[in-house]
Order: sequence, then C-alpha cells, then structure tokens
Amino acid sequence: MIELDDVGYSYGGGELLSNVSVKLAPGSFHFLTGPSGAGKTTLLKLCYGALTPTSGAVRAFDADMRGFDRDQMAMLRRRIGVVHQDCRFLDHLPLADNIALPLIVSGRDMAQESANLRELMTWVGLTERADARPPELSGGERQRAALARAVILSPDVVLADEPTGNVDWEMSMRLLTLLVELNKMGKTVLIASHDLALIRAAKSQVQARVLRIANRRLQLAGADL
Ligand SMILES: Nc1ncnc2c1ncn2[C@@H]1O[C@H](COP(=O)(O)OP(=O)(O)O)[C@@H](O)[C@H]1O
Ligand SMILES: [Mg+2]
Repeated sequence: MIELDDVGYSYGGGELLSNVSVKLAPGSFHFLTGPSGAGKTTLLKLCYGALTPTSGAVRAFDADMRGFDRDQMAMLRRRIGVVHQDCRFLDHLPLADNIALPLIVSGRDMAQESANLRELMTWVGLTERADARPPELSGGERQRAALARAVILSPDVVLADEPTGNVDWEMSMRLLTLLVELNKMGKTVLIASHDLALIRAAKSQVQARVLRIANRRLQLAGADL
C-alpha cells in the first residue's frame, strides 16, 4: 500500500529521519512510536504525500509519489484517510457538515451519500451531536468526529496521528476499538502514538507491528513493550 525506501528527511537543519525503509502491507496494523519530537508526524506526512523526502522514495499503491501530478495526488488523498494530531474543524458549521466536508470537496452527490453519513455518525456514536458546533464538543467527541471525517471517502489506508492524545483511558479504548474495526474491515492502519499502555492494550485485540523512531532511524520494536 505504502512503501518507504531508504527515506531521509530534513526540514533544513540536520537530518531528522535517515534510512527509513518500511512497507505497510494491505490489511496490516502498525503503531509508530518514539518520543515527542522524534519525527512521527513527519513520517506520517511523508506517507500521505504532504512532505517529499529529501532522499529515497515513497511509493503509494505501487507508484512512486515523485511522479504524481495533481490528479494523482488528489486520488491519493482519497485513498488515504488521515486523522490529524490537532483535528481542526470549521467552527461555524455543524458537526455533520464537518464530517461530510470531504464528500462535498470531492464533488459527491450528497443526496446519495446521506445514508453513508448517517451510518458513519452512528458508528462513532455522534448521531445526537450532528447539529452541535465543533467548539461545543468534548475532546473524545472531536477525536471520533475526526476519525469519521477521515474515513468518509472509504479510504484503503487510515493514518492516525496521536488519536488518543487528549482523551481519558476509557475514550482511548473506544477509539482504539474503532480503529481495530476498520482494520478488520480490511483497511491498512497506522497509528502514531507515544502511549505504550494503548499499544499494549491493542496487542490483545489485533496483530500489530510496532515501529519505533530512535536516533533518526525506524526500527521494529520487540516484544518488550
Ligand atoms: N515545518 C517544520 N519546520 C521545521 N521543523 C519542524 C517542522 N515540523 C516539525 N519540525 C521539527 O521536526 C521534529 C520532529 O517533529 P514531529 O515530526 O512533529 O515529531 P513527533 O510527531 O514525533 O513529535 C521536531 O523537532 C520539530 O520541531
Ligand atoms: Mg506528532
């Protein structure tokens, strides 16, 4: 699905990531861990084409992203759903419209998509909050809304950046369950998180590989978590 081949990345200073090679196989479940500032968000951005590597290559769906034109990039964005770390919304729009925004932007027929939207709102448990404005939402509601928005175009891959960053343990488990369900539906999932308790909890629910960024390199973490 997504493949990084000897990728290096630098924002202009020293190299932040070096010699990163990894394959996210179809249907796989990965965690990406490492201390704050290690480069987790940067690595996710390389995976969905928001950043271009300074060296090496990123392949998505068997094609080198370097050669992508605007249309291919737009297609890529539809096939990769991203839950951003700061999950921003348009505060003046009701929650349901915020979640539906990717449908509108990609020109889908909203009448045809209304069942899809309703089903998704039910799945994340936000049906009652459809008319609420984003500033009224709790942290857990925002994260679930961000997840719903990320998957509304039925992407093949879901990348979630610290999806449980600002929520309590119970809500973390609920979000994890949703991500595991997506994986069971066949989606490739990658979760960036420094929460080792979350990762341990996940291991009883799903076969997950744990990748760790340490000293600019990406390594496969052992069973010692
Ligand atoms: N746009 C940017 N320009 C320059 N430096 C950046 C930028 N974004 C992130 N960084 C730096 O890159 C490092 C890794 O950031 P990030 O990928 O957000 O790490 P993590 O998600 O693991 O906390 C940090 O030191 C951060 O300050
Ligand atoms: Mg980050």
